Amino acid sequence: MIGSTLAKLWVDAGHEVRLASRHPETLKPLIERLGRPASAGAPVDAATFGEVIMLTVPLKAIPDLAPDLAPLLAGKIVLDTANAYEQRDGAAAREASAHPQGSAGWAAARFPRSRWVKAFNTVYFKTLENEAHRKEERLGIPLASDDPDALETAAGLVRDAGFDPVIVGSLARGKEFEPDTSPYNTGMSGQQLRTFFGQSVGRSAR
Ligand SMILES: NC(=O)c1ccc[n+]([C@@H]2O[C@H](COP(=O)([O-])OP(=O)(O)OC[C@H]3O[C@@H](n4cnc5c(N)ncnc54)[C@H](OP(=O)(O)O)[C@@H]3O)[C@@H](O)[C@H]2O)c1
Repeated sequence: MIGSTLAKLWVDAGHEVRLASRHPETLKPLIERLGRPASAGAPVDAATFGEVIMLTVPLKAIPDLAPDLAPLLAGKIVLDTANAYEQRDGAAAREASAHPQGSAGWAAARFPRSRWVKAFNTVYFKTLENEAHRKEERLGIPLASDDPDALETAAGLVRDAGFDPVIVGSLARGKEFEPDTSPYNTGMSGQQLRTFFGQSVGRSAR
C-alpha cells in the first residue's frame, strides 16, 4: 500500500525505483503501469540498488528481514514507515512501543550501521495518493532521525513526492507522531505540524 503509492509518486518525479517483494514476479503488472524507471526484485536486490531505501512492511516482519538486509544497508539512508499495532504485530508491537526511542528506535537497533529516518508513517496511503502536490497548503510529513544529512535527503524526497517535510528532531522524537498522537492520521498540513511542534511558521513548503 505505502510502497507502491510512493513508488508512483517518485517515478513521476523522475526517480528510478526498484520495488521489492519476496515474490517479485507478482509486481509485474505494477511495474508495467509505472513504466521504465521502475523495476522489481527481491528485498536484497532493492537494498543493493537503492541509494535511499524505504522499508515499508508490517513491523513484526522487520526482525526477520534484518539479518539479510542490515549488512547491505550499512551506511545507507533508510526511511522507516512502520507503525506498531498490537493486533497485527503482537509482541513485536509491545516491545517496539516500549523502546526508549519509540518504534523507529526499536527497528533501527536491528540495522546499527544504517542512517535511520522515521518517515511517512502518519498518513493513510489513499491520502498520499489523493493529496500529493495539492495546490493549497501541502500535507505535512513529519520526519525524525539522529542523522542531519539523512533528514535533508528525506526532506527532499518528501518534497519530490508532493508533500511538505517537517523535521521534528532526533529519532526518539518519532514517538511524538506514533499512533494515538495528534499528528497521526489527522491530515495536518506542514504549517499545522510546525505549529503543533512549536516551530516557527511561514517557511516555504518547497
Ligand atoms: N497502509 C497505510 O496506509 C499505512 C500508512 C502509514 C504507515 N503504514 C505502515 O507502513 C508499514 C507498511 O504498511 P503497508 O500497509 O504499506 O503494508 P502492506 O501493503 O500490508 O505490506 C507491504 C509489504 O510487506 C511485505 N511483507 C508482509 N509480511 C512480510 C513478512 N513477514 N516478511 C517480509 N515481508 C513481508 C509484503 O511483501 P511481499 O508479500 O510481496 O513480500 C507486502 O507487500 C506498516 O508498518 C504500516 O503500519 C501503513
